[in-house]
Amino acid sequence: MSFENQLVKWYINNKRDLPWRKNKDPYQVWISEIILQQTRVVQGRKYYINFMKKFSTIESLASSSESEVLNIWKGLGYYNRAINLHKAAKEITNNLDGQFPKTYDEIIKLKGVGDYTASAISSICFNEFNPVVDGNVLRLLSRYYGLKIPIDSLKAKRLVKQIGQKLINKIDNPGDFNQAMMEYGALKCTPFPDCALCIFKYKCVAFKKKEVDVIPIKSKKKKSKARFFNYIVLIDNKQNTLVTERSNKDIWYKLNEFPLLETKSEIHNITKLTKFKEFISGNSLLITKENQKKYRVKHILSHQILYITFHQFNVNQEITPGVHLSNLHQYNFPVPLTNFISKLLI
Ligand code: ADE
Repeated sequence: MSFENQLVKWYINNKRDLPWRKNKDPYQVWISEIILQQTRVVQGRKYYINFMKKFSTIESLASSSESEVLNIWKGLGYYNRAINLHKAAKEITNNLDGQFPKTYDEIIKLKGVGDYTASAISSICFNEFNPVVDGNVLRLLSRYYGLKIPIDSLKAKRLVKQIGQKLINKIDNPGDFNQAMMEYGALKCTPFPDCALCIFKYKCVAFKKKEVDVIPIKSKKKKSKARFFNYIVLIDNKQNTLVTERSNKDIWYKLNEFPLLETKSEIHNITKLTKFKEFISGNSLLITKENQKKYRVKHILSHQILYITFHQFNVNQEITPGVHLSNLHQYNFPVPLTNFISKLLI
C-alpha cells in the first residue's frame, strides 16, 4: 500500500476523539487550528472547550470585547492570535454577511490566517487539495524521505509543501490526509519516537539509514534572549494600585501590567535608578515605605527568558486612576503577574 493510503487508513483507525473533529464546521475548525498553532493538543483542548462555551458562533465572538477574548486566552501565550481572531470575526460579520469564506484564496485573506491555517480549513471543511506544513509534517516527511535540509529554512518548507501536494493529489479525502500527517507526527513520529512500533519502518529512509535521531536537522538554535523586568507596584492608603496596558508590539501585547522598568541586568536597589526617580517625580509621588521583600520569578518563553522582579512601594497620595487590589482579577495580566497577585497582594 502507498504511504498516503497507509497513513490515512492508520488515521481512520487511530485518530483521537477531539471536540473539533465532531463535524466540519469551519468556525470550529478555524478556532481549533489557531489554538493548536503554538499549543499541544492536550492543553489546547481545554482552551478550545472554554472558547466555544463563551463564543459559540462567529457573531458572538464578533460582538464581544477584545478584553473578553483575551481573558479566555489567558495563559496560552501569543496573544496576537486572539486579537486577530476577534478582528477576523468582525470582518466576517460586517463584510462577509456572517458567512465563513469557503475557499483557500478567501480564507487566507482573514487576519491571522497563513498558508497553514488556510490549508487546514479548506481541506478539512471544503475538500480542497492543499497540504498542510507544520512541525509534525516537517518531521514526518523529512524522516520518511531522508531529507537533510534544516527544517527551519524556507527551502525545506517549500520542498515539503511540494511533496505534500503530490501525495494529497492521490487521495480522496484531503482533510483526513492532512490530519493524518499531523496526528502521526504528534503521536508516532515524535521527536523521540519508538520506531519499532512504526508502520513505516521498512520504508522510512531515516530509519533504514539509522538517522532518525539526526533528522529533522535544525539550523543552529537561536539563543534565548534574557530580559530583566522590574515592576513597580505602588499601593496607596486606600489599597489602590496603578495598572497599565502593554501597547508596543512586544510580548503580551494589550495585556495589563504594573508600571514596568526594563533594565539590562538584575536590579537590587531600584530606588537608585535614574529611570525610577524620573518615574516617581513624573507622577508626583512620595514613597512612604519600600517592601524589602522582593518577589522574583524566572519566566521562560519560546525565545526569551524573563527575569521579573516586583518592587512594592507604599505611597501617600491617592493613585488616580487607581485599581483597588481586590479588583485586579478583572484585568488581563500575563501568567507570572497573576501568580504574583494571587500569592502576595490578595
Ligand atoms: N495539530 C494542529 N492541528 C491538528 C489537527 N487538525 N489534527 C492533529 N493535530 C493537529
